[in-house]
This record gives sequence, C-alpha cells and structure tokens, in this order.
Amino acid sequence: MSQEVRIVTSGKVIQSPCGPIVHGLEDVLVKTTTISDIDGRNGILWYRGYRIEDLANNSTYEEVVHLILYGKLPNKRELEDLKTRLASNRDLHPATVDVIKALAKADPMFALEAAVATEGAYDEDNLKLADALRSGRYKETEKALALRIAEKLIAKLPTIVAYHYRFSRGLDVVRPRSDLGHSANFLFMFFGKEPDPLAVRAVDLYLVLHADHEIPASTFTALVIGATLSDLYSVIAGAIGALKGPLHGGANEAAVKSYLEIGDPAKAKDVVEAATKPGGPRLMGVGHRVYKAYDPRARIFKGLVEDYVKKFGDPQKLYAIASSIEQAVLSHPYFQQRRLFPNVDFWSGIVFYYMGIPYEYFTPLFAMSRVVGWTAHVIEYWDNNRLFRPRACYVGPHDLQYVPIEKRE
Ligand code: CMC
Repeated sequence: MSQEVRIVTSGKVIQSPCGPIVHGLEDVLVKTTTISDIDGRNGILWYRGYRIEDLANNSTYEEVVHLILYGKLPNKRELEDLKTRLASNRDLHPATVDVIKALAKADPMFALEAAVATEGAYDEDNLKLADALRSGRYKETEKALALRIAEKLIAKLPTIVAYHYRFSRGLDVVRPRSDLGHSANFLFMFFGKEPDPLAVRAVDLYLVLHADHEIPASTFTALVIGATLSDLYSVIAGAIGALKGPLHGGANEAAVKSYLEIGDPAKAKDVVEAATKPGGPRLMGVGHRVYKAYDPRARIFKGLVEDYVKKFGDPQKLYAIASSIEQAVLSHPYFQQRRLFPNVDFWSGIVFYYMGIPYEYFTPLFAMSRVVGWTAHVIEYWDNNRLFRPRACYVGPHDLQYVPIEKRE
C-alpha cells in the first residue's frame, strides 16, 4: 500500500483502502446470548428475561448469580446450596495472600488482576478444565466444572479486595465468615466489624445492578481470551485489566470527586452549562453508548441513595449537588438533543463515599459484581466456540530495501 493513502473517519466508520471499518466495533454483533438484553432507546435492562427493577426489588446478589449462571431463578433449596458453596470457597491460597501483600501499596486493580491469576495457577479444577478444553473434551461434565469454577471466582473476589484494603492500611486481615451472605461478609472483611443493614443492602443492590450488561469492553476481552481456550481465571484477570481503564469502570469515582469539587448545589447550573461549551469538561456519570434514555440502574440506585442520606445525612451535600446537576441536565436542550441522561455511575459513588470505602476500591466493587457476567458469557460462548481473529488494513509500505546496520544513517 502506498503512503499517500488517506484514511477518512466519519463518525463510527473509517473509510479505509480495504473497505469500511466499524471503529470500536460499535453495534457489531459477536454472539447470540440469553444472558442479558438492553433496550437502549427505552432504558430497559433484562437478565435472562427478567426486568432489572424486579430483580433489584426482590433478589439478592446470590439469587442473581444463580439466575445468570444457571439460567433460572433458584428455588429455596438451590439458593441455600449455592450460598453454602459460595461461603465455602471464600478463602484464598497462601500464595495469593502473599501476592496481595506484596502489592499492598499498588492500586487494588493491579492486585486483583495478579491475585486472580495466582489463584488460578493453584486451582486444580481450573487446570483440569483448561486441559479438557485443549484436548477437545469439553462436554456437559466440563461445563458443570466451569460453572463451579465461576462460583469460586465469585466467592473469592471480595476476599481479595478486602484483604488488599486491610494490607494497604497496615491492618490485620479479617477472615471470611461463612454465616454471612455475600455482601455482608464482604463489608465484614473490609471494615472488620458487623455491617449496617442499609450498607449491606447498598453493596448488594450495586452488585445486582452490575452483574451483566451484554458486551462491554471487559466482557468482550473475556470472550477473546476464553475463545483461545485459555483458562477461566486468565479470562477474569484479562477482563479486570479492561475494566480498569477510565473509559469503562471508574466513572462513579470521577462523579463523586466532581461533586466534592463543586461543593455547593447552587453552583450546579454553571457546571452543567460549562459542559455544553465546545471543549468543555464532560459531566461524569452522564451519557451512555447504549442508553439513549435514563439508565434504569441509575433510577434504582438513586432510590437507595435517598434512603441512605435520609438515615445517615448528607454532610458533604453530595446528594444535594447530584440532584441539582440532574435537574439542570434533564432540562437543558444540549443534553436533551443528544439524549444524554444520568447513568448508574452518577449515583453509585455517593453511598460508597459515605460508607468510607476509598475511591480506588470503587472499580474493584464493579469487578466483584461483573465476574458473574464475564464467566457466564464465556461459558455460553464455549458451547459454540470460535477463535476471534479480526484483520487490520495495512497502510504502510511493502518490500523496502534492507540496509545493514553499519550503513544506516
Ligand atoms: N458531558 C457533556 N457532553 C457529553 C457527555 C457528557 N458526559 N457525554 C457525551 N457528550 C456529548 C459529546 O460531547 C458529543 O457531543 P457532540 O455531538 O456535540 O460532539 C455527544 O454528546 C455524543 O458523545 P459521544 O462521545 O459520541 O458518545 P459516546 O456514546 O461515544 O460516549 C460516554 C458515551 C459514556 C463515553 C460519554 O457519554 C461520556 O464520556 N460520559 C461521561 C463518562 C461516564 O459517565 N462514563 C460511564 C458510562 S456508563 C458505565 C456502564 O454502563 O457501566
């Protein structure tokens, strides 16, 4: 290809010499799924056919885990069995604890990636499954094994996150308690004390709302790794790496920081106005690639924030500031014309901040939830696996004259 080639980018399509390229694979379909569905125009989210509102109002995270992994809401016995299995898998291998300790001063997302990879290296089931995948023996028995490994990952991520927090602050770790539910146990390991029921509800609701969201970048990463027939822990370590990027996880942290900076609800209108000017700062927690309506998860979590500030107050006026921003956004023609609405990150960080969870643990909480979606999508894809291998349109020169190093300028 000659160097005169011009690449024209218009919106989401690059007109390349080899043909149009869908930039960022926007709206490109990569698989069929029965796990989750989004109606972005009307702001609706379903897991396995159930509306997110029904699940958020009635289910715990453990029930949603069962729904997403096994395709059906559990009956009482199935739920108790799942809870028992999750509780019995919370402990970590000593090598993993050492890795978390060694990374105590690093960002927790680095520790999470490394700890998941370490745990996978020592999990006999994981190695057995990887072996079966590689030798083409992946049938129903191996699928059942993959689902059990998914449960282990779901059970262990909170322990990794809590241990990292404890080590990073020079505190003794608090071992998991098998008599507590998933979210209560996480808060107990994190803060080392019996958690407040509303804090437990906040974490659990957050986990329910983030459990799956079709194919965002991290789930796509999981699929790409899974399709190579790598192992399930490597899938999750890679997905965590994708989630770490600021264009994916992390907007709730940015939103809370901006509310703290604004400091006064009366300033909200000016801040929103500034975001509408060319080159102005984007409002964090506003807008979404898929939702062109109010994010249903944001509406649900807003209710929880209201309950929380009613019970514990709003000392930094974070809820009041966010509400003023929301009002200004919803009534401004700039946001109306572009169909930009608050997304789930607009509200979720407020409660974590008031609970005393440091910012850097907000994205690990996201990973603690999404691990179920990541594993479920990969296991679903393995039913009809095909390696992802896209192509690039080469636009550089060919057949250049090789010059020996001593003759190069
Ligand atoms: N504030 C101000 N203007 C915005 C914003 C915003 N937050 N978001 C989009 N716009 C404008 C953008 O400037 C563009 O305007 P114009 O047409 O004049 O050029 C128009 O809206 C379309 O923007 P886009 O960048 O093409 O939209 P996108 O679909 O690529 O971006 C987004 C989606 C989420 C990256 C973006 O809305 C954004 O940066 N939001 C702030 C960060 C954020 O809240 N991220 C969390 C997303 S939800 C996480 C989850 O689902 O898990």
